[in-house]
Parts: sequence; C-alpha cells; structure tokens
Amino acid sequence: MLAVELRAFDDPTGLVPAELPDPEPGPGEVRVDLVAAALNRRDWWIRRGGKVSLPQVLGSDGAGIVSAVGGGVEGVATGDEVVIDPSLDWGEDEEAPGPAFRILGVPDQGTYAERIVVGAHQLRPRPPRLTWAESAALPLAGLTAWRATVTHVQAGPGRTILVPGAGGGVATFVIQIARELGARVLVTTSSEEKLERARALGAEGGALYTDSGWSERIGPVDAVVDSVGAAAWPGALACLKRGGRLVNFADTTGDRGEVDITRLYFEYQRIQGTTMGSPREFDALLAHVADASWRPVVDSVFPLADAAGAHERLDAPDRFGKVVLAVRPGAE
Ligand SMILES: NC(=O)c1ccc[n+]([C@@H]2O[C@H](COP(=O)([O-])OP(=O)(O)OC[C@H]3O[C@@H](n4cnc5c(N)ncnc54)[C@H](OP(=O)(O)O)[C@@H]3O)[C@@H](O)[C@H]2O)c1
Repeated sequence: MLAVELRAFDDPTGLVPAELPDPEPGPGEVRVDLVAAALNRRDWWIRRGGKVSLPQVLGSDGAGIVSAVGGGVEGVATGDEVVIDPSLDWGEDEEAPGPAFRILGVPDQGTYAERIVVGAHQLRPRPPRLTWAESAALPLAGLTAWRATVTHVQAGPGRTILVPGAGGGVATFVIQIARELGARVLVTTSSEEKLERARALGAEGGALYTDSGWSERIGPVDAVVDSVGAAAWPGALACLKRGGRLVNFADTTGDRGEVDITRLYFEYQRIQGTTMGSPREFDALLAHVADASWRPVVDSVFPLADAAGAHERLDAPDRFGKVVLAVRPGAE
C-alpha cells in the first residue's frame, strides 16, 4: 500500500511517500481502506519534535471502508463505511482514560496510508450526511471539542463561551457545537477576514488577539474553551465571570501560564484540563452530528502523496479549519 512515512524531523520534506506491506487484521481487529485522512496539530508536533523513533506513519483521523475483518469480530462487515475513534482504548472511566489509552497514529500506524488496522471497537458508522473529507475531519478535533464544550462547559442557552484562536481546527468545532446547542459564542482571531468567517459559523463577534486589551472588548463570559495556551490565558482569565470555567487542552503558544490565585478562589473559578474524549462522548458527538445543521470546516484537500504540502498549509496565515488528505478518489 501507499503510505507516507516521517523519515526526518523538522521540515515537511521529511514526509516521504513509501510502499509498505498491507496490514492484516488479527483477532478483534478490522482493516479499513481509507478514503480520507486529516491533519492535526499533533502530527505537526511529532514532525517537529524528534521525540519518537523513525520512520513513523502519522495521522489520527481517518474515514474509509472496511476491507477485512479479523476473528471474533461481530457487528462490522466488509463494505461498511466507517470513521475511526482516535481515542484508543480509553477504558470505562469518564473522568480520565486508563493506562492502555493512546492516540491513534504514533506509536501505532496512523492514517497517512491507504490501509490501517484498528480494534473493531474503535469503528463507528460514518455520518451519512457528511462528505468523506468532512467525515475524516471530524474525529479527533470534534471529539476534543465535544468533551470540552459539552461535558466540561455545558454549552447551552444563556451561556456565553469565548473561543480563543477561532481559525484553529478544534476551535471551529467548538464554535459550531456551542452555537448548535444554543450558547452565545465570542472569539478571538488574527484577522478581520477570519473574524468574518467565525461569524459565518455562528459566533456573535469578537476581537483580534493581535490588539492589546482585547479582553476588555470581549466582556464577561461564562466559560473559555482554550486551544491556544500561554498567550491566551491572561486575557481569557480576565474575561471570566464569577463561577466561570476555563477549559484547556493545548499549549500552542506556550506551556507556562500565570494565574492570579486570589482572583481564582474569590471568583469561584475553575481551570479544567482535558484531552480527547471517551467512547461514550464519541458516540454522543456522532449522534449530535447526525441531526446538526453544521458541517466540519475543511480548509483544503491534498493528495495523500503530498502530505508535505498539507503540512505546509497548516502553517499558512489564512488557513481556516481542517486540512484533509485524499487517499482514494471521491474523498472530496
Ligand atoms: N489535548 C487534546 O486532546 C488535543 C486535541 C486536539 C488538539 N490539541 C492541541 O490544540 C491545539 C490546537 O489544535 P488544532 O488542531 O486546532 O490546531 P490549529 O488548527 O493549528 O490551530 C492553531 C490556532 O491557534 C491560534 N493561535 C495561534 N497563536 C495564537 C495567539 N497568540 N493567540 C490566540 N490564538 C492563537 C490560531 O488561530 P487563528 O487562526 O484564529 O489566528 C491558529 O489557527 C494544538 O496545540 C493541539 O496540539 C489538543
């Protein structure tokens, strides 16, 4: 099969198309012929970071068609159109995953490939109303957004949610899920064009984070769903109402933040960390998507063999939403 291997760190040219053996499913496993895959910032961190052995096949997001079923698998058949839950072996606890938990794509083979083998319990029917590209864009970012926005923030009518960095892949899902559930959404972003696009997704408005004092223009919010990290925290915490909650799952701009502890306890505020989500939350996301009015925001689609070009696009200042890899014809 065609796959893309990460053979050298740092530059996107380290992502090289390669011919690899087809994976075969063992007991309890299923092989999926991927139609589309999607990029996440995690892939970028791994490409840049140098913390794993090489080569690796990256990719946590994929949608495709079941092509082989291992022994003992029930309820999944060849020809099924599926998305993969990228939270591997989360376990039974809703508060946090168990010791077997890992994210699809490194150390396991990822979705930058024509075929992948995963546990049958990781598969779900793909949302019929979405395209293949949209289906592939959904799992990791949608799941992370769902747990943050619904489980932790309880987005709904009467609640105002701030989403820093509106153009990010996860952020676009947060805006759309929160709006669909009836919350009021405010954002920060880097350009007037992106602010307009966030409005088109349902945000009421917001501010440019490049303007100092942006938090004064945002005003009090019930919650912040933060994928930005250090750069967003001073302003985001300043916006938070008494009893408000900041939920964070990322440190794109830095992993050290300052917290005014006195304000935290006198204002009854909470800071909640989260990563990915449970299988029950993935099911809830898919049930929501089945009837929702929104679609995943796909910025661009690149052929699998040009994963390097897709990684370059991730860093383009005008990128908005998810970058997708077309693995087979019909992916778009
Ligand atoms: N823990 C988890 O489960 C989990 C899951 C998914 C993602 N993540 C992490 O979440 C982060 C976002 O992931 P993603 O896939 O959504 O990435 P992404 O699509 O690359 O989004 C990054 C966004 O960050 C925003 N940004 C950059 N500098 C900023 C600043 N100084 N202030 C405010 N916003 C700024 C930009 O927003 P604008 O475009 O609006 O300028 C940019 O689009 C990454 O660090 C990723 O590793 C964690």
